[in-house]
Amino acid sequence: MKIVAVKNYDEMSEYAAHLLIKQITQKPSTVLGLATGSTPTGTYERLIQDHKDNQTSYEQVRTVNLDEYVGLSPDDPNSYRYFMEKNLFKHINVRPENTYIPNGKAESLEQECTDYEKLVQELGVDVQILGIGVNGHIGFNEPGTSFQSKTHIVKLAESTRQANARFFDSMDEVPTSAITMGIESILKSKEIVLLVSGKNKAGAMKQLVTREIDESFPASALHQHPNVTVIADSDALAEC
Ligand code: GLP
Repeated sequence: MKIVAVKNYDEMSEYAAHLLIKQITQKPSTVLGLATGSTPTGTYERLIQDHKDNQTSYEQVRTVNLDEYVGLSPDDPNSYRYFMEKNLFKHINVRPENTYIPNGKAESLEQECTDYEKLVQELGVDVQILGIGVNGHIGFNEPGTSFQSKTHIVKLAESTRQANARFFDSMDEVPTSAITMGIESILKSKEIVLLVSGKNKAGAMKQLVTREIDESFPASALHQHPNVTVIADSDALAEC
């Protein structure tokens, strides 16, 4: 695991965007694994700016997102599909049919998980962007999730619902479950880039660096992957 220490959120975003742009330039048909949350939005802003300034093309790029809330439709402003459209897809020239996110409103959620896992494996993710939850979750893989897990439905930890409540009008509206790629699905990516920023992530960052590989801390699974870059800012590294 390579740790890149940067000054702040902006530098983290700059570094990550640069890495992605280089990847897409070298391989125009890159399969990008994408994440939601506040952490990657600065990176997405830079990709959009670069697309405007330098015409980096996403014509052949395919994207797969890590997760989606169960019960939210794509046009719900709190769904991850809506988030991705608003923060990235509609500003670049990626083909809508090449952007994949689990369907949280699928009639059979089990079938949706099976189909999504198959799709992710068939596409083969080149670079997976990850954020980290305060409890060490990646995607929505909460503590205790098997490292052999594939795409599955998860009941969200109360701490995760609270952390994400800031996007909703009230706590009651925060969904209680989600579909997420599993840990095994994530580890199949050729390369993983984990973004960590802010004081509230310092505890998780410390655990990532110091703890044994253990299912009670999902992000520790990343130590088993041969090509992981962690881009962390000084606030996130404060306890390391
Ligand atoms: C959510 C997402 C994760 C994300 C995490 C951290 O639970 N499912 O993919 O990494 O939150 O979010 P943030 O970047 O807003 O701190």
